[in-house]
Amino acid sequence: MNYLMMTLRVIHIFAGIFWVGGTLIMTFFVGPTIGATAEAGQKFAGHLMSRMKYSQRMAAAAGLTLLAGAILFWIDSDGFTSAWLSSGAGKGFSIGAGFAIIGFGTGIMIGRTIKAMGQLGAQFQGKPTPEQAAQMQALAKKQTQYTNITAAVLIFAVLFMAIARYLVF
Ligand code: HEM
Repeated sequence: MNYLMMTLRVIHIFAGIFWVGGTLIMTFFVGPTIGATAEAGQKFAGHLMSRMKYSQRMAAAAGLTLLAGAILFWIDSDGFTSAWLSSGAGKGFSIGAGFAIIGFGTGIMIGRTIKAMGQLGAQFQGKPTPEQAAQMQALAKKQTQYTNITAAVLIFAVLFMAIARYLVF
């Protein structure tokens, strides 16, 4: 039995489920609920980000998925040298990996934007000034854009990971 491949696949798939699942639930359910529930939503979001360390835990899951995926890729391609690279499966896993790496990058941008929103929110003394409110709105818009891009590219990453093995080019 190939225990190394089994271990890497378990880490890769579990961490991938956690990362992509968390991102999709956030994009389609939690984010819109926070937006629709005003002050209660802000309180919920604050707890989710600071106490539950949502961003850090997502980053850890994403990092594990990428790391285990990169090692699997290295093994499957014999250190980027084998014919597997130009096979349907090799190309499919490469495209999927590409989408996942873009999602990792935009995920980092989400984390930075959330941090900037937290820092701006901490400067409010009671009601935000019109300038602060405008800044917050601009940050929220940016965050929505990054979140949508991340969800879209991760959906494509999963799609290619799921079908790669069966592709014939
Ligand atoms: C969104 C993130 C990702 C998810 C959800 C994901 C999910 C999966 C799943 C479910 C499989 C099993 C497919 C099968 O056995 O047919 C798989 C295999 C694989 N993934 Fe990913 N993956 C992701 C990102 C990546 C990245 C970034 C890389 C490379 C850097 C990668 C490289 C691979 C490789 C090489 C395999 C084949 C492993 C084997 O030979 O059994 N994956 N992935």
